Amino acid sequence: MKDQLIIFDTTLRDGEQSPGASMTKDEKVRIAKALERMRVDIIEAGFPIASIGDFEAVQAVAKAVKDSRVCGLARALDKDIDRAGEALKAANASRIHTFIATSPIHMQMKLRMQPDEVVENAVKAVKRARQYTDDVEFSPEDAGRSDLDFLCRVLEAVIDAGAKTLNIPDTVGYNLPHQFGELIKNLRERIPNSDKAVFSVHCHNDLGLAVANSLSAVMNGARQVECTINGLGERAGNASLEEVVMAVRTRQDMFDCDTRLDTTQILAASRLVSGVTGFVVQPNKAIVGANAFAHESGIHQDGVLKNRETYEIMRAEDVGWNTNRMVLGKHSGRNAFRSRLKELGIELDSEEDLNSAFTRFKELADKKHEVFDEDIQALVSDTLTED
Ligand code: KIV
Ligand code: ZN
Repeated sequence: MKDQLIIFDTTLRDGEQSPGASMTKDEKVRIAKALERMRVDIIEAGFPIASIGDFEAVQAVAKAVKDSRVCGLARALDKDIDRAGEALKAANASRIHTFIATSPIHMQMKLRMQPDEVVENAVKAVKRARQYTDDVEFSPEDAGRSDLDFLCRVLEAVIDAGAKTLNIPDTVGYNLPHQFGELIKNLRERIPNSDKAVFSVHCHNDLGLAVANSLSAVMNGARQVECTINGLGERAGNASLEEVVMAVRTRQDMFDCDTRLDTTQILAASRLVSGVTGFVVQPNKAIVGANAFAHESGIHQDGVLKNRETYEIMRAEDVGWNTNRMVLGKHSGRNAFRSRLKELGIELDSEEDLNSAFTRFKELADKKHEVFDEDIQALVSDTLTED
């Protein structure tokens, strides 16, 4: 029996921190319901102290969602924690996620606190959050650039104070995969009470490594991944939910855990988030990009028509696409062309007619990025008319 990998979606919190991606209360509720349909375990709905609007949005999500746990973010400050506790009152299942920075640069330059004070504040915050819910998550912000001994000290103390999840953020996306995996392994081995908490990771994508770092952490014992739809998030974004989930699902031979997500809901959620935020998904984006299951070259099309597994490692249908897609263009071959004619219900009288239509198709393909079904219909009717 494999472990469960918990999926903590932060599209509505860290995702919303993408410049230009702010969402209304109603939009947040619509996205939260899509995440719930996908069976996401925990939805971080916002940062209730940030504004009245965000407080109300977390409250609305807490009311609307029944099957996922709803979480609110809070700095390690009484007022933040009280506000998060208040916003989550109506939730079926709630979590408070509290954080304080632990890296030398953040402690000295941003918090202007001594390490002892940071530990004290972390413990105090967790204890206060426990007054609202028994599900408290703690994050040492900028853990990826923090001292290992100090991290162990803080984390041991917050477990004793009642934190159930220890989230290790690579806040500025600085780590390399082997290094981040090693960090998780070291923390699990060195913290004496580490078995009393779930290790989670929260990776940013500044070097394009957020998914790789998250997967490396999972291979080293992390059992929660924080991620966002389409990889939305501060600066270059967070680990993309769809990529993490499908990597683990597709490579079950490499993982001793799996998520409980209904992956067929992924494409709908991606489109909803893209529509709400106006952040267009690049065509070559893994899993949800328009080209993720599209084939153009003749060699690939011929292979896929014979057996999809020649060039597909996942089924398009498993992430919500109707099917894969053959794009007819200048690299396409006769086999794909013939197959498209059949799909369009076009039967040519002879092999000669097919050859002639195929020649015209190639001439047209040289002038266009993609040859559409309407182009083919026109092209074939030209051929038939001429005959
Ligand atoms: O990136 C980060 O460190 C965060 C924390 C609040 C977890 O978003
Ligand atoms: Zn973050």
